[in-house]
Amino acid sequence: RGKRAFIAGVADDNGYGWAIAKSLAAAGAEILVGTWVPALNIFENSLRRGKFDESRTLPNGSLMEITKVYPLDAVYDSPEDVPEDVKTNKRYSGSSNWTVKEVVETVKQDFGSIDILVHSLANGPEVSKSLLETSRNGYLAAISASSYSFVSLLKHFIPIMNPGGATISLTYIASERIIPGYGGGMSSAKAALESDTKVLAFEAGRKHKIRVNTISAGPLRSRAAKAIGFIDMMIDYSKANAPLQKELSAGKFFSFAMHDMYLVEEVGDTAAFLASPLASAITGAVVYVDNGLNAMGVGV
Ligand code: NAI
Repeated sequence: RGKRAFIAGVADDNGYGWAIAKSLAAAGAEILVGTWVPALNIFENSLRRGKFDESRTLPNGSLMEITKVYPLDAVYDSPEDVPEDVKTNKRYSGSSNWTVKEVVETVKQDFGSIDILVHSLANGPEVSKSLLETSRNGYLAAISASSYSFVSLLKHFIPIMNPGGATISLTYIASERIIPGYGGGMSSAKAALESDTKVLAFEAGRKHKIRVNTISAGPLRSRAAKAIGFIDMMIDYSKANAPLQKELSAGKFFSFAMHDMYLVEEVGDTAAFLASPLASAITGAVVYVDNGLNAMGVGV
């Protein structure tokens, strides 16, 4: 039987979640995605209208199939947690069953079980403020959306994850080195995510034989990264200073026949490797997919 993957945090074809979905699909996995509720309509319409067909193309020429798109807001665990103003918000009231607990219940009803869980989401409302300027609410919101969201997804999915399953999240070097501009408590949130990767690897490994790893990815011009505001500078910096001086991306339309791989696909393929039996002894790891930039002590 093929493996079934749930990828949380896909709302367009530009981010890491999309690339990971493609690599998992190319390796034969069935793809389910969780899309942030406010982004759901645009994403589903674009999918339906064929806007992503070009970038849905897999190496063998076929198109990636997304079996089902689930609305998801990973900052709410169950309906009791949703404040009234969100419940009645137009962008939310049109969808249902989008808290973590309800999504997992729906996946269980639809498919019974999954094998692979990918967390490719983050949000920090005050990301453009320095840490010193960040409010308590902004800091806690960053941790809630970017770190606890993984704990919650894993907690709820574990009962329907097959033993031998794997989970992957995405982190950033700002957790352990100073990256001015990655503010609002987002650096703190990534540090929590990496620490949790170790503790959860132990707990999920002992109890359920499930592996937990995180990929520390280099810079990508995703929608989320554009919102931070310094992404182009980071891409240029990486290209100038990393051990491997490659183009990090080629925009939207690339050819799989090209010799060079681009970072977004390399992150996708690393996730597919980590989710596969090839990586069956790897858990609790932070795997750098950044052209080696993390190893530099000083830019040259
Ligand atoms: P993206 O914009 O493609 O993905 C972020 C997704 O999170 C979006 O689809 C957004 O709708 C979703 N989201 C936000 N709040 C949510 C919530 N409460 N519930 C459910 N979904 C929610 O951007 P990107 O950059 O691909 O981000 C994916 C992951 O990669 C994030 O964890 C990010 O921190 C990480 N990362 C990104 C890097 C970059 O340079 N783009 C570098 C290193 C890590």
